[in-house]
Amino acid sequence: MTVTVYAIGGGQMVEAILRAALRNKIIEPEATVVTDVSEKRVNYLHENYGVDAQTTINEKKLKSAEIVLLGVRPQDDWEKITAQIGAAEVSAQVISIIAGVTLTQLQTASNTEIAFTRIIPNTLTDTGYGYSGVTLGERAERELVTPFLESFGKVDFIPEEQIDLYTGYAVCGPNYVYNFYIALTNAGVLSGLSRKQANAIALENLKGAAKFLELTGKHPYELLDINNSAGGVGINAQHEIDASGFAAGIQNAVLAAVQRTTELGKKG
Ligand SMILES: NC(=O)c1ccc[n+]([C@@H]2O[C@H](COP(=O)([O-])OP(=O)(O)OC[C@H]3O[C@@H](n4cnc5c(N)ncnc54)[C@H](OP(=O)(O)O)[C@@H]3O)[C@@H](O)[C@H]2O)c1
Repeated sequence: MTVTVYAIGGGQMVEAILRAALRNKIIEPEATVVTDVSEKRVNYLHENYGVDAQTTINEKKLKSAEIVLLGVRPQDDWEKITAQIGAAEVSAQVISIIAGVTLTQLQTASNTEIAFTRIIPNTLTDTGYGYSGVTLGERAERELVTPFLESFGKVDFIPEEQIDLYTGYAVCGPNYVYNFYIALTNAGVLSGLSRKQANAIALENLKGAAKFLELTGKHPYELLDINNSAGGVGINAQHEIDASGFAAGIQNAVLAAVQRTTELGKKG
């Protein structure tokens, strides 16, 4: 089953979402419209994905879409766009990815009864991994939005109060992993491995350790207990990790990301 989508704002995030939805065949290029203010962007999206892309909103196509994707930034004129969606009296499920803009703000700006869903989208859309945090508005229909949302990652239905927390922890999540990967590979090079070897080994260990956690369902402390034998190599490395600011550094980074998301939401 495919859905017809009308996206407003054709930037990086919308492109990543549409690319995954097209690859997973939940949308078709000829049944997908994107409006972006930039002519260059519109041409790029049409040439690369075959979607119908234009610089102004086509009300007829907007009204016939099953899903409207609001993909502009908080500093763009989302209120005007939302008012336009309201005036068109769309019956679509309207999914907003605009950071910091609440369901109440969207509902107010639309000036009518629209089925809004607010999400913080997964950014690993090309991989098949990653979670989007999703809050359904009062009129949203879960079974109508879910197939589209699942075409670009896993879906976690959360209360709206958790959206900022989700942004800082889940959606920024790959950043923490990239940092760990850099630290680990530099350690490999520092100890004498080539960059190529260090990168390959670290990537394999990252994938393998994640798979093993998933397969065993065990807490990592249990796995460390197996690896860290008495007086051995592992427990000596463990001592250095425990003595460093490693855990607190990651935890502080997540808390700072959550705090910044909240601050930006207040500004928007
Ligand atoms: N990127 C991420 O990783 C990420 C993750 C989670 C959530 N988000 C959210 O996703 C939204 C988009 O982010 P992004 O990174 O994709 O930003 P982006 O690449 O800057 O995309 C926004 C696009 O909307 C266009 N635009 C501005 N005003 C418009 C209007 N009135 N009508 C139609 N198009 C308009 C912009 O054109 P101009 O540039 O020419 O103004 C730009 O092409 C934001 O609200 C952001 O918070 C992004």
